[in-house]
Amino acid sequence: MDLGIKDQVAVITGAGRGIGAQAALTFAAEGCKVAVWDKDLDKAQEVTEKVRAAGGQAMALSGSVGIRADVEASVQQVLSAWGTVHILINNAGFGDDAPLVDMTDEQWDRVINGNLTGPFYCARAVAPTMIRQRYGRIINISSRTHQGEAQKVNYCAAKAGVLGLSRALAVELGPHEITVNTIAPGIVRTERVLAQAVYEGLNQRAQERQLVKRSAEPSDIVNGMLFYASATSGFITGDLLYATGGRLS
Ligand SMILES: NC(=O)c1ccc[n+]([C@@H]2O[C@H](COP(=O)([O-])OP(=O)(O)OC[C@H]3O[C@@H](n4cnc5c(N)ncnc54)[C@H](O)[C@@H]3O)[C@@H](O)[C@H]2O)c1
Repeated sequence: MDLGIKDQVAVITGAGRGIGAQAALTFAAEGCKVAVWDKDLDKAQEVTEKVRAAGGQAMALSGSVGIRADVEASVQQVLSAWGTVHILINNAGFGDDAPLVDMTDEQWDRVINGNLTGPFYCARAVAPTMIRQRYGRIINISSRTHQGEAQKVNYCAAKAGVLGLSRALAVELGPHEITVNTIAPGIVRTERVLAQAVYEGLNQRAQERQLVKRSAEPSDIVNGMLFYASATSGFITGDLLYATGGRLS
């Protein structure tokens, strides 16, 4: 199926590894020019090289999505090179868990900044271009855990905030033919997740509660991104997609 995104410009945050890296490779294979953005520049460059080796077009971007100056500079770099942005995927994110009574102000601020303020900065930076061209696709990555989970008060608040951000952006940008949708993944087999000592237990509990009894791969999430990014999904906005194998709690 032709997704209608060939030659479009896609900015993907947190694309140096994991789900974001898979997204960069997949969107490039669909013919997009891909801005591979990661605070770890070496990783962004590695993914950029992989895209190019496969015959695609990519540029590496560095800096934190949670620092306004970095965001403005990165978006400007894309605009200078490719003139526009059609697709923004706010994928960068991370947790920093602790029981409520031990959670420091710094842990709270850092997680809210990276997971929630970052997507706000990125959406605000690309919006003028998307409004001007009367076309845009913004996809925000939340998490199933936005529903609440122990020792993740910062992460759950940030990922629930992403839903509010998405809905508000959808309302404000809809009249400009810009859609804004959210994906809430369950546990996905990325190197970060696999490196956690508690992975086996988490995975077992997830599979007991999932309807589809297998682990999720990054491509399971990227397929949802492709749907929301496609030119044909223009009537779908303010939506939330659970990519959890049917697990809701
Ligand atoms: N993997 C899962 O099980 C899972 C489940 C639910 C939601 N998610 C969400 O999916 C997204 C991707 O997860 P992943 O497992 O692929 O993560 P990951 O840790 O493998 O990759 C995230 C990338 O984002 C980059 N990054 C982090 N903070 C950044 C910042 N401030 N600015 C720029 N880059 C930054 C990191 O350097 C890293 O390369 C995250 O938003 C995560 O919260 C993941």
